Amino acid sequence: MSTILTVSGSGFLPYEVEVGRGLLAELGAQVASLTRGRVVVISDETVAALHGPTVLASLDVAGLRTRILTIPPGEASKSFAELERVIDRLLAYELDRKDLVVALGGGVVGDLAGLAAALYMRGIDFIQVPTTLLAQVDSSVGGKTAIDTPRGKNLVGAFHQPRRVTADIDVLATLPARQLRSGWAEVLKHGLVCDAPFFSWLAGEGASGATGDPAALERAVIRSVEIKSTIVGEDEREAGRRALLNLGHTFGHALEAELGFDETVLTHGEAVALGCAMAFRYSAELNQCAAAEVDLAVAGLAAAGLPVRLSEIAGGEKVAAEALVRRMAGDKKAEGGRLTLILARGIGQAFVERDVDAGRLTEYLRTEGAR
Ligand code: GLY
Repeated sequence: MSTILTVSGSGFLPYEVEVGRGLLAELGAQVASLTRGRVVVISDETVAALHGPTVLASLDVAGLRTRILTIPPGEASKSFAELERVIDRLLAYELDRKDLVVALGGGVVGDLAGLAAALYMRGIDFIQVPTTLLAQVDSSVGGKTAIDTPRGKNLVGAFHQPRRVTADIDVLATLPARQLRSGWAEVLKHGLVCDAPFFSWLAGEGASGATGDPAALERAVIRSVEIKSTIVGEDEREAGRRALLNLGHTFGHALEAELGFDETVLTHGEAVALGCAMAFRYSAELNQCAAAEVDLAVAGLAAAGLPVRLSEIAGGEKVAAEALVRRMAGDKKAEGGRLTLILARGIGQAFVERDVDAGRLTEYLRTEGAR
């Protein structure tokens, strides 16, 4: 049994997101319904070792001519050099526009393979097969693809929607506990943005998902994808409502950057959790959100083992408030230098606050423990 959700918007072909168990072994039939041409699976070395054989066997049974192309695991692969290498391989394989790319992996693989597919021959089809919780609930849906540059993350990219997303809950069983928790932060974020009952389920009965309970994970992924696809369908290019999905990200990105994007210190999901906690507390500071709502939001994040205070992060006390605000103002979501934040009037009631006062925010971050 699986659940199929459809993502549709005015600017792209509708596509299905399938969420369920045992889906990798059925991938070949799904891919064969999209192409009878050749298939290139792009994966990283770790994921390819774990799941490559199942995927390749399934594509083989479906009679598809397939190659696998691996990249080194880790954010460093989201680079111009790796993008060039991937595109060069696709050219060497003489892929044409009837052929298809399969992105098998987490956010790094999805972002890089998606961008390569967007650029190759001005765009070929690709499907996302996300193998991390974070990729299943966030990066694989919505068509954002990108690489990093030394000046910042995700600064070069394209909107290129996949033709299909296959989210197999079983693959989450191979994730390290910390990585699963980090993905859970994006799940909790969806509740905080626009679905209070979902958040209360995640913080209560569904909390076992954060430690790997497959039934809770499946329900959490389905609801997250529903939320994300509705928002993406309304606002693919982030002209409005899609920005709400960045709750916790402007604070979080600035912290990640100040800590040198060192995943051993702070993972992306942990940064998002801490960022959400800060966004709620700052909303209360601005009299936009009741203290009781802040307490519930923060308690739900903390109960999942996610950081909610700067003091929980190694080196957090050394982060300078002014440096954080400079980064936040330089965030690509900032418009014309105006500092924009996603804040909340309560759980499930996120809103976009433009023209944030940098001085007041700097002072506030000192109360959060920045120097
Ligand atoms: N990760 C936020 C978005 O896709 O819009």
